[in-house]
Amino acid sequence: MALVEFRDFSFRYSGAREFALKGINLEIGRGEFVLITGASGCGKSTLLRSVIGLIPHMYDGDYVGEVLVSGRPVREFEVHELAERIGYVFQNPENQIFMFSVERDVAFGLENLGFGREEIRRRVDRAMDLMGVKGLANRAPFELSEGEKQRVAIAGVLAVEPDLLILDEPTSLLDPLTAKGLIEALKRLREEGMTVVMVEHRLDLLSDVVDRVVVMGKGFIAADGSPEEVLPMDRLEGLGVGPPVCVRGYRRLRDYLGDGVPLSVVELAERLNGVLG
Ligand SMILES: Nc1ncnc2c1ncn2[C@@H]1O[C@H](COP(=O)(O)OP(=O)(O)O)[C@@H](O)[C@H]1O
Ligand SMILES: [Mg+2]
Repeated sequence: MALVEFRDFSFRYSGAREFALKGINLEIGRGEFVLITGASGCGKSTLLRSVIGLIPHMYDGDYVGEVLVSGRPVREFEVHELAERIGYVFQNPENQIFMFSVERDVAFGLENLGFGREEIRRRVDRAMDLMGVKGLANRAPFELSEGEKQRVAIAGVLAVEPDLLILDEPTSLLDPLTAKGLIEALKRLREEGMTVVMVEHRLDLLSDVVDRVVVMGKGFIAADGSPEEVLPMDRLEGLGVGPPVCVRGYRRLRDYLGDGVPLSVVELAERLNGVLG
């Protein structure tokens, strides 16, 4: 059974003229690392809100079809039940960091859920380790850089050990180098077998990290497949999505490079070297 399933799902925010999502069919399996991308306003955040249950529990509107988590309709879950299964990371980590030390912050969700001290210790250590923030355990949140804050926020969500991690443009406030560091940390989650759904524009940093790329047009799914399948599609630009540098380079050099899309600039360079050297 899919972990998440959209079945002919449409949603219109109350007061809006148009449906933000129209007839979405999408399945996400356990252990998949899925990138969702598309032009601004096409419905990416709405899609994520529909999984975490903010839609329909917090946002009113016309709800047609069904979204299922572990086979059960989202609208039948209590909000807190979803929060225990699904970790949700916002664009701005300020929304998720509030305490006196990094360690207390990461433990906050677990304390709220009533876990014992030993278990909290174990989970907090593991989550901080995964996100590479162990060295910051005793620092105050206001002393952290934006990139560190975002990694701490993600560690706090991971400590709850959700079945699914959802990230909505987590690098949008980060400079490119810091964003790269965050994505390196997310790579480890993939190795751990975590299911991750991430909305991002920075395809350059993600093309060799994700298993699957979903491209949205306005309210619909325009493409869905492996990065090798989706990233070279000519339709991408028309949907407001710029292909990563490695794919653009490959397009120009295809005659020399032969089949197989490189998914990183390093891979592109290696392939070129192979041809030239
Ligand atoms: N709370 C809301 N009320 C009404 N309309 C909204 C609300 N949030 C988003 N929308 C509209 O829904 C559409 C999709 O928005 P959103 O999911 O935020 O897109 P994206 O995340 O891809 O930028 C847009 O037209 C947006 O204006
Ligand atoms: Mg959004």
